Amino acid sequence: MEGDSDEHTVVALPGRDAVRDTLGRPMRDLRISVMDRCNFRCPYCMPRETFHDRYRFLRSSERLDFREITRVARLGTRLGVRKVRITGGEPLLRPGIADLVAELSTLDGVEDIALTTNGVLLAQHAAELKGNGLHRVTVSLDSLDPAVFESMNGGFGGLDQVLEGIGAALAAGLDPVKVNAVVKRGVNDHTVLDLLERFRGTRVIVRMIEYMDVGNRNDWHAAEVVSSAELLRQISQRWPVTALPGRRGQVAERYRYVDGAGELGFISSVSAPFCGGCSRARLSSEGSLYMCLFAANGLDLRAPLRAGATDEELLELVRGTWSRRSDRYSEIRDAERAAAHPLHKVEMHYIGG
Ligand code: GTP
Ligand code: 5AD
Ligand code: SF4
Ligand code: SF4
Repeated sequence: MEGDSDEHTVVALPGRDAVRDTLGRPMRDLRISVMDRCNFRCPYCMPRETFHDRYRFLRSSERLDFREITRVARLGTRLGVRKVRITGGEPLLRPGIADLVAELSTLDGVEDIALTTNGVLLAQHAAELKGNGLHRVTVSLDSLDPAVFESMNGGFGGLDQVLEGIGAALAAGLDPVKVNAVVKRGVNDHTVLDLLERFRGTRVIVRMIEYMDVGNRNDWHAAEVVSSAELLRQISQRWPVTALPGRRGQVAERYRYVDGAGELGFISSVSAPFCGGCSRARLSSEGSLYMCLFAANGLDLRAPLRAGATDEELLELVRGTWSRRSDRYSEIRDAERAAAHPLHKVEMHYIGG
């Protein structure tokens, strides 16, 4: 084995070794969690009862460093990765995050670099992120009603900072800005129209996400899911909308307002799963590569990275795991939930959604 020095990396054309899984799905997207901590405690992701003051988060030495992350991403491009998303926990809590963006933006083959954030720290980072090569940002924002906002994020304030962050992202040219709103029945569903109204006519695209049974700790009940079909009916009564053409495997169903006020979207992973074209691999902050948002285990890349594995050895590991992949959790969710032994799933804050 030779050292893991990037200087010794054999130059290879991106996508040269493109890989497909057992269902013929390519690996096109790499979602990189850079931080398992978050400054919110959204009950559907990091409930306070579990993620309290004494919860043991990763030590910084346990997280992949930027060089290791960039190396994995570079190898990903050889296997077909074209889109990279930086996520968390909250990625803006990771010191020097804009430096990682700069490194990722130099990779041949990466056509799109986006970041998902809760937006609280975005205003102070937006311009630097854009300057270092970030293309787009997605802000999680579940409601504009301060009390509902707080109940969705575990009792924190920060709504004004989030809105300021969205403004700063637009001003910096991070375009389009998307807003992701998880909709939970009886909690924030009555505020969805207000959220849409606020961003109509701006360049912000609001997407409503069906509440999912991610991780093992959010005590998910199907009755709390508000289906996209139900929301679409409500929305159309207020503003006529029309569907935009979709792409295979895309996460969001896209719509536009007929009156020209812009775009909106629905992410219907519960009522209309999109596993058929799922091309997403997820790298956790501790360096495991997950083949599905609901997977129990990931492929540990940190150990071989730190043991001096060569590029070819790492590529072989990832290629082998992806080529054996058959995950389609959302499509078989009900059957799995009915099974005698509940599945253990990776926690959302390790892989960032
Ligand atoms: P764009 O790159 O802007 O198209 O983003 P995206 O459409 O991939 O969506 P984003 O990364 O913002 O993800 C939005 C939400 O959709 C996530 O937070 C998850 O809740 C959900 N989601 C994304 N990818 C998957 C997936 O592969 N499976 C499931 N079940 N849900 C997903
Ligand atoms: N169901 C649906 N979406 C979720 N997210 C976090 N937890 C859930 C869940 N249980 C979303 C966040 C954010 C992204 C990272 O994942 O709102 O937009
Ligand atoms: Fe933090 Fe996002 Fe999880 Fe909320 S959903 S706790 S903002 S990582
Ligand atoms: Fe992909 Fe798994 Fe989500 Fe299906 S449930 S779309 S396989 S990440």
